[in-house]
Amino acid sequence: MVQGTPGLEWAEHPWVCWLSPEQTAGKQKPYMYTQGQAVLNRSFFPCFDTPSVKFTYSATVKVPEGFTAVMSATSWEKQKDNTFVFKMSQPIPSYLIALVVGDIVSADVGPRSRVWAEPCLIEAAKKEYDGVIEEFLVVGEKLFGPYVWGRYDILFMPPSFPFGGMENPCLTFVTPCLLAGDRSLVDVIIHEISHSWFGNLVTNATWGEFWLNEGFTMYAQRRISTEVYGLPYTCLEAATGRALLRQHMDATGEDHPLNKLRVVIEPGVNPDDTYNETPYEKGYCFVSYLAHLVGNQSKFDAFLQAYVNRFKFQSITADDTLGFFLEYFPELKEKGVDSIPGFEFDRWLNTPGWPPYLPDLSPGQQLMRPAEELAELWAAHSLNMEAIEAVDIMGWRTYQLVYFLDQVLQKSPLPEGNVKRLSKMYPKISKAQNAELRLRWCQIVLKNNLEAEYSKVKDFLHSQGKQKYTLPLYRAMWGGSEATRALAMETFSATAPQLHVNVQNYVKKILGLAAAEA
Ligand code: BES
Ligand code: ZN
Repeated sequence: MVQGTPGLEWAEHPWVCWLSPEQTAGKQKPYMYTQGQAVLNRSFFPCFDTPSVKFTYSATVKVPEGFTAVMSATSWEKQKDNTFVFKMSQPIPSYLIALVVGDIVSADVGPRSRVWAEPCLIEAAKKEYDGVIEEFLVVGEKLFGPYVWGRYDILFMPPSFPFGGMENPCLTFVTPCLLAGDRSLVDVIIHEISHSWFGNLVTNATWGEFWLNEGFTMYAQRRISTEVYGLPYTCLEAATGRALLRQHMDATGEDHPLNKLRVVIEPGVNPDDTYNETPYEKGYCFVSYLAHLVGNQSKFDAFLQAYVNRFKFQSITADDTLGFFLEYFPELKEKGVDSIPGFEFDRWLNTPGWPPYLPDLSPGQQLMRPAEELAELWAAHSLNMEAIEAVDIMGWRTYQLVYFLDQVLQKSPLPEGNVKRLSKMYPKISKAQNAELRLRWCQIVLKNNLEAEYSKVKDFLHSQGKQKYTLPLYRAMWGGSEATRALAMETFSATAPQLHVNVQNYVKKILGLAAAEA
């Protein structure tokens, strides 16, 4: 019997992922990987599979000729007979242990960083991140204290990897969708690097307080981004995050019990089933609110560094975090900032709904305003083509286009014919290879019933299996017409075997197919 999951036997956990050659980028050799978070590693090795317990580990992995094994470990060594020996010398929770065996090779991209990928992707992987990783690490260390994990390597996973990134210590796993060719999706890397302090050093003691991992990490990510790319760009990225929170709360209703920072997870409930944008973006708002209470960025940065130092290698609850905050700023404690009406810490944690405080994103206006105006032009009943043609989107950053598309999606369905014209006018968008653009374009196609481009939805879902891309598209197809429902069924039956079992089950639920009891 497996701890914490009543009724499930070892053999019933299909959570170590075995891929056939066709499911890899190179299509030559099989591949295996593990994804521990949240509670999947109990089917990989016997453990206390809770983030409240930390331990060091070592592992000896023997693989067939022509394969390489890598793990989330501080040191590793290849011995004779294709045997790899790994050691993680810092205590970590079970969910951060990860293993990959495949036909993978590596290339250096910095003094303590290399990229790993299948041979056919390694050039692109190196090109994407050569020389940029170290700067993020250095800024992270300046802000949050020493990077304790030795190396920071990045492993590009097969297309079916269900996440954008997974912060396995020493070796972040990422989706190959990040290979956009222009570094435009590097925020995911900054995010995973930020977990080196928030999540991997200071860890949520229970999955009900996941916002301690993800909310603080979003804040840290945007601090690093601000230092490297400036405030306007970072505010633009944060605005796209806020749009995701808006979409999520609109879809579930603000009062949904999962729209609290502190979530009650009953025994037997899989924490992955509680996954949503709230811990990320509402968590970000709460940390921003704490910074706002302090009123001085460098003082708050110093607090974050002291917080990491105080709780490193421990697992904590929000009470520990907020208690330390008030202890660190006694003048705020005296003022009673934890009980300002409407902004009580207790309300932040335990009341569902839209964040009572939103950080000011107006420094991003110079980038957001043109996108908002253009979206308005496209939503008009009779299109003002002169005004539209006067806007040159060729020089826009990817996140400006993303922001524009989110606005268009929000206003959709647009008046008859507009989306078709938009598609023709901007092949940079409608024929984009960038996954974040493809997701939004597919959402717009579905919401506007643009049948001529349904094949793009299908192609996108065939090309990758990231959960945050896959589920919104199936939800949109299922909530659409007879034709989009048929498209959903057809696409799912063709792609199901490639999807991670969790993602498979979530899609089954959306499509009303009985989800396997797992
Ligand atoms: N730790 C998460 C991924 C995760 C969460 C895996 C819960 C399993 C259960 C990771 O750090 C993450 O948040 N990834 C995001 C990146 C984004 C917020 C920049 C993703 O995959 O989209
Ligand atoms: Zn994260």
